[in-house]
Amino acid sequence: MSPRPCLYVVLAAGKGARMKSSLPKVLHKIAGQSMLAHVLGTASSTGGRFAVVVAPGAEAVAAEAKRLVPDVQIFEQANQRGTADAVLAAKPAFPDSKGLDVIVLFADTPLVRPEVIAEMRDSLDGGAGIAVLGFRPKDPTGYGRLLLDDTCTLTAIREEKDASDAERNIDLCNSGAMAFRVPDLAALLARIGCDNAKGEFYLTDAVAVGREAGVRATVVVCNEDDVVGVNSREQLAQAEAIWQRRMRSKFMRDGVTMIAPETVWLSFDTRIAGDVRIEPNVIFGPGVTVEEGAEILGFCHVEGAVVGKGVRLGPFARLRPGARLGENVHIGNFVEVKNVTLGAGAKANHLSYLGDGSVGAGANIGAGTIFCNYDGFNKQLTEVGEEAFVGSNSSLVAPVKIGKGAYIGSGSVITKDVSPGALALERSAQEERPGWAEKFRIMMSRRKAAQKK
Ligand code: UD1
Ligand code: CA
Repeated sequence: MSPRPCLYVVLAAGKGARMKSSLPKVLHKIAGQSMLAHVLGTASSTGGRFAVVVAPGAEAVAAEAKRLVPDVQIFEQANQRGTADAVLAAKPAFPDSKGLDVIVLFADTPLVRPEVIAEMRDSLDGGAGIAVLGFRPKDPTGYGRLLLDDTCTLTAIREEKDASDAERNIDLCNSGAMAFRVPDLAALLARIGCDNAKGEFYLTDAVAVGREAGVRATVVVCNEDDVVGVNSREQLAQAEAIWQRRMRSKFMRDGVTMIAPETVWLSFDTRIAGDVRIEPNVIFGPGVTVEEGAEILGFCHVEGAVVGKGVRLGPFARLRPGARLGENVHIGNFVEVKNVTLGAGAKANHLSYLGDGSVGAGANIGAGTIFCNYDGFNKQLTEVGEEAFVGSNSSLVAPVKIGKGAYIGSGSVITKDVSPGALALERSAQEERPGWAEKFRIMMSRRKAAQKK
């Protein structure tokens, strides 16, 4: 791939009206991260400077861009007069030295891969001044068509609204992404007019205008999945589906078993090591790392968590942010863990809430245990020592410490620290009345009989 520095111009000033949303279109998420972040992430993996073109007052979009690329340059496009006008809004960022690449990407086309960008740049190395990323969609409706001459040279791009019937039959379409290496991009774009069906300044006209000035244009053809555009919520879901499919395949290639991959949902930053086995219907929110050999049984929801080596999780377990499961930890059905570190081999197998604190290595948390971490104002910590045994249906009222190896009797409400090795019991003594049940039954049946009379 070309080592030359380049400038990415990411267009994000469109209205996105078809999303019917108060949120700007490019901030809608795919795999838990904004479309803008996907585009900036892909581009920044190849190196270069960044300019993002936003609509006036789109502070949230600018803030998202700065979060991802702190030295990004933000430009406002005063009026949405078309894609060429949008690129010109970033003119102050254009390289002043000749022959540097400018790559235009659309923020609503989030799935472009770095390899595809690299191919566009390589084709500029071959002497072309403009490289257009083309594709052959199943349904070309709505896309600009790429017009080639007899020698397969790109001569122009025709927007659908301006195309003749013959041109509409062309199946090679414009994805929107373009790369330029021309002596003066601003001058080239300034020659583009707006005499067309939409009355807009089309970036796509750079091909025909450039040709008149002796600039050669070329096409790089990619897969439809790489350039899916998002204009509606339905297309947002389609892009999500493509992203998920790609990422599941990547993990399976890297040695992860998924029994029903189409039911496993990943996030942009999910990390899963080799020999992990994942059963159906598992959802990974952002910030999850799964270490080697862990097993995630069906219907788990995992977010902001570390699942250590050899862990067995689920079925039906929920890990919330700050859950850190050490090696060989077992977390079973209907257990929720939030902001708790569990040491190696610790177990909580049934129906528990563990929130804020720590569980030492080898400790056993019985069924129905609750860490009572919240008093309506503050969150407090529960610390369970190594090898401790917490009996079923115990409430540990934080802040509280259970010493190493201690036992908690079932059903206890523990409000005070428990010393290492001790047994703590908090419940009334059991009473027994011999023969009581029989007497009770006789009394009750007599009463019932009397009522019937
Ligand atoms: C554009 C292409 C078309 C291509 C299609 C692929 C042009 C003229 N047409 O059409 O050939 O097949 O994408 O999806 O380029 N934007 C601005 N300011 C503007 C107008 C647009 O920033 O004034 C941004 C939008 O936010 C969006 C991108 O540019 O990210 C594309 O604009 P859009 O109006 O969606 O173009 P299409 O009609 O889809
Ligand atoms: Ca579009």
